[in-house]
Amino acid sequence: MRKIRAQITALGMYVPENRVTNDDLALMVDTTDEWIRERSGISERRIVSDGQANSDLSVKAIENAFQGKDFRPEELDLIIVATVTPDMMFPSTACIVQDKIGARKAWSFDLSGACSGFLYAVATGAQFVQTGMCKKVLVVGTDVMSSILNFEDRSTCVLFGDGAGAILLEATEDEDVGIIDFLLHSDGAGGKFLYMPAGGSLHPASHETIDKKMHCVHQDGRNVFKHAVKLITQVSRDILERNGYTADDLSLYVPHQANLRIIQSSLRRLGLSPERVVINIDRYANTTAATIPIGLTEAHQQGRIKRGDLLLLASFGAGFTWGSVLLRWGDV
Ligand code: UT7
Repeated sequence: MRKIRAQITALGMYVPENRVTNDDLALMVDTTDEWIRERSGISERRIVSDGQANSDLSVKAIENAFQGKDFRPEELDLIIVATVTPDMMFPSTACIVQDKIGARKAWSFDLSGACSGFLYAVATGAQFVQTGMCKKVLVVGTDVMSSILNFEDRSTCVLFGDGAGAILLEATEDEDVGIIDFLLHSDGAGGKFLYMPAGGSLHPASHETIDKKMHCVHQDGRNVFKHAVKLITQVSRDILERNGYTADDLSLYVPHQANLRIIQSSLRRLGLSPERVVINIDRYANTTAATIPIGLTEAHQQGRIKRGDLLLLASFGAGFTWGSVLLRWGDV
């Protein structure tokens, strides 16, 4: 029996129009354009306008993915939305998206994997495709980080941005293309280094949680940095090794965009040249679950990916969660 693989057959992205530069932020907190560029590689980020929610960004990314394609939302079997900034606690953003795009046949759920959410969702969606349970699975990585930032905390508010990316996974019997392997990890002991304490059952919303800014991102940047550099490199190396590849075989590396120094360090450790890496953190900052689908879409639009190319996607984020996905590009 031929093995069914899941392959990406459509992809799209969306970032809000509202551009916020480092200098704009320097008017709000004690920071400088120079500090932000040197320490993170970020020059600007996109921030939603009033009333623009996570599902709005997701829908635009999905529409862009299907633009010019003969595709009807009714054909979708499953929608997975990876996010830590849903429209609301419930219903899931995936259900809201399902309704907005009219994907009447699909079942839908959100997946909380922070910066690794998109890769967790790709691996999950691929299982339903590979087993034949679903024919068309939509995977969205999307976050409105500005909705949970403390714009008085210079150590976090300069690092993140808003955006969304979407891919369609479909079955292929072509053994030369599709998702080859994934490797996912978590270590809950790292949770204390990057988290949003309030809004859940532990600290329900109260005047106190709001006064103490507990509905915002809290991060021990140095600790997260240290783990990110080591583990994103390791998980990239491990997946290559167990599939009999080396970094030399890679056409393109699409890492999570949290800090340019983390990306550069993992490039050095893997021995990859910058031409084979997607970097857009300068323009979008860290959009959490959206960085990888946005990076993939831009690389595709720029003609940097062709059929048969070996791609490695890799992430590290809150949880801690980290992982990699190895794939060969097919027909998009
Ligand atoms: O996607 C989720 C995963 N997240 C990450 O991977 C983020 C990982 N961490 C990082 O990217 C980096 O640790 C940061 C960019 C967050 C910080 O860079 P750093 O080189 O680790 O700086 P630091 O936290 O050690 O801070 C150095 C100094 C401190 O001042 P003192 O204590 O040395 O006087 C900070 O208070 O820089 C200060 N600082 C700032 N100064 C100007 C912190 N934020 C700012 C700022 N502007 N925005």
